[in-house]
Amino acid sequence: MDFPLAELHLHLEGAIRPNTVIELARENGVDFPFSTVEELQRALNFSDFLKFLEMFQRVNHCLAKPRDFERIAREAVEDLAAQEVCYAEIRYAPMHSMLRGMEFDDVTAAVIEGMRQGCEGRPIELALICGLTRQWDCGECAELAGKWAGHGLEAIDIGGDEAGFPAEDFMDVYDAARSAGLQVTAHAGEAAGPASVWAAIEILEVKRIGHGIRAIEDPVLVRFLRDQGITLEVCPTSNVKTGVVPDFAHHPLRRLFDAGVRVTLNSDDPAMFQTSVKQEYEVAAREFGFSPQELRLLTRNAIEAGFCQTEVKQRLLEGVL
Ligand code: HPA
Ligand code: ZN
Repeated sequence: MDFPLAELHLHLEGAIRPNTVIELARENGVDFPFSTVEELQRALNFSDFLKFLEMFQRVNHCLAKPRDFERIAREAVEDLAAQEVCYAEIRYAPMHSMLRGMEFDDVTAAVIEGMRQGCEGRPIELALICGLTRQWDCGECAELAGKWAGHGLEAIDIGGDEAGFPAEDFMDVYDAARSAGLQVTAHAGEAAGPASVWAAIEILEVKRIGHGIRAIEDPVLVRFLRDQGITLEVCPTSNVKTGVVPDFAHHPLRRLFDAGVRVTLNSDDPAMFQTSVKQEYEVAAREFGFSPQELRLLTRNAIEAGFCQTEVKQRLLEGVL
């Protein structure tokens, strides 16, 4: 690719290098049933979306102290910079650690420090998103996140069991986060249909949606996304690996793009889906026929929809003409 890449949707805990997960599990005395990279990789065949969430939780259990977060954040940024990514947003899921007794502020400070170390001397800009988990009470975490607005944390997201825990339950959490100065995105239209995307837009008032691909089932919604300039954080390999679509041929990426929806390409959980944002750009070219010029536009879409400062966006956009 002769232009830099950008991604908006990468889960820190889904991006941990396999050998790092195994080392941390051992170091922290965690009961983790995989002791080699090969064993771990063999377990990355998910029969469905909820099985994937189980593995995500299992990996989270391997993280036991702030330095673990510093390490995985540093390594994730090194891996992004090695792919010539000029802009990336990283989302972490502190509620998993808080449930095991860690402090939100300690985890957050460690992630920010790891990101700083990873960036040092590398041409990459980053933003951090706090990921809430639908299955749990998100109020406290969102309130704590609000105190970091403008201090290294830009936004909140909500992930986890979309079909079981609808957006309606999180309206107050999103209102409070916005009042505290955080921006917002939400997973929707991945494990549930267009109604969930409508709810994210109308109830959570997001202008960006994680996945959002099942919007394709509702033509009125597709036109609405286009007309409102709502950006979808599309993760093609993730959707195949969690069984949201059977294969790339059934994935609506190209149809959404052709309908004028602002789409971006993302790796989601690169270590768990054995992908990378670079690979997602290659998939878009190979499986969906995106031209280099179209791929460049997807990088621009990501930067334009980014949660970073306007000056940063302008500078980054000059590098992707
Ligand atoms: N969807 C919902 N929750 C998640 C995901 C996802 O793609 N990745 C990590 N947690
Ligand atoms: Zn995700």
